Amino acid sequence: MPQERTGPPGGGTPPAAGAGPVPPARSPAPAPPGPSPEADPFDWIGERLEQRRRAGLLRSLRPRPADSRLLDLAGNDYLGLTRHPEVVAAARHAAHRWGAGATGSRLVTGTTELHAELEAELAGFCGFEAALVFSSGYAANLAAVTALTDRGTLVVSDAANHASLIDGCRLSRAATAVVPHADPGAVAGALDGFDGRAVAVTDAVFSVDGDAAPLAELAAVCRDRGAALVVDEAHSLGVLGDGGRGALHAAGLAGAPGVVATATLSKALGSQGGVVLGPARVIDHLVNTARTFVFDTGLAPAATGAALAALRLVRAEPARAARVRAAARKLHAGLTAAGLDATRPDAAVVSVRAPAPEAAVRWAADCRAAGVAVGCFRPPSVPDGVSRLRLTARADLTDADVAAAVAAVAGTAPPAP
Ligand SMILES: Cc1ncc(COP(=O)(O)O)c(C=O)c1O
Repeated sequence: MPQERTGPPGGGTPPAAGAGPVPPARSPAPAPPGPSPEADPFDWIGERLEQRRRAGLLRSLRPRPADSRLLDLAGNDYLGLTRHPEVVAAARHAAHRWGAGATGSRLVTGTTELHAELEAELAGFCGFEAALVFSSGYAANLAAVTALTDRGTLVVSDAANHASLIDGCRLSRAATAVVPHADPGAVAGALDGFDGRAVAVTDAVFSVDGDAAPLAELAAVCRDRGAALVVDEAHSLGVLGDGGRGALHAAGLAGAPGVVATATLSKALGSQGGVVLGPARVIDHLVNTARTFVFDTGLAPAATGAALAALRLVRAEPARAARVRAAARKLHAGLTAAGLDATRPDAAVVSVRAPAPEAAVRWAADCRAAGVAVGCFRPPSVPDGVSRLRLTARADLTDADVAAAVAAVAGTAPPAP
């Protein structure tokens, strides 16, 4: 929905109709001293990019061919569903039936019957009263944090939270206390003595090191202090909990009062999009106030249909969740047996520390040359400034795949500093 423009650019009052001749425009003020008019206003960017390059932090795009022969441990297709024939057929069918795009905001024309079906099934599967689908997990996180907060709210945020939760805190304009990672005592300390509305936000499984948040303890701290708890299940939906119902479900907290979950549809569900799950009145509130819902085009029908088909597969084949966790444990065992400093996975993500950003980039390139794609995480994507390779397990990895991945990563490892 475009914003209505109520005045001329710059905010002056437009002349009223019939108010007489418009006075002549004043001559423009002389230009203040500064760069010459011929200077390229983007010159500063070249300098910034060069600084990033020197620090080993330059990022660039590498288009992936459809028939890549690399063993993929860099993506987030945890359950191996993105190319599943039923998921692809559902995307194709949805595009044929509903069109290539959603055609409008969810509140105008962008809600199809498919969206409603997906929301009902996501809520039922994860154990929440209601769900609302967004065009991305990023948008879902911005929505959940901003809609539940205002200037007078205190938000308590884990230091290792995903960028989308951090940006939600920033956009909310609420006072934000960033607390040490996975520390319910620190959350309690931040909440104690604050008598206004408060919300604690955390990833369920942290995206860099793959460790799980202490959800039962966090929920108890929040419950005792009347605070809401928002949990991002991006890396746990489809991976943790009974048949992949998520970390909150595993902790007996799905549908609990005061608890809201968010998730992406782009990882275990192999599609695209995001979701917020919670009490019906929270979802109604989001429909009315969440700017990334109201002012955003609805999720494309193909992605909606694909996510729904993937969700049905996850429900029909609950062993997939156990298989991805087992593959992650095998990866970890192989990497540590090879002498590497790998994080113990609580879900599908295993990280290996690299000595420096440049070394991480070279290491990832060497892995690729050895036939294995791995993620390369550098500042600002790492909360502690330490660069890492990140390996993501998939339910369809064979033991031979795991052995090949371990051999590639260990065989190309830089010398310890
Ligand atoms: C923890 C976490 N939350 C949210 C997101 C954002 O999800 P999406 O990619 O659907 O925008 C990601 C994606 O990388 C993530 O890792």
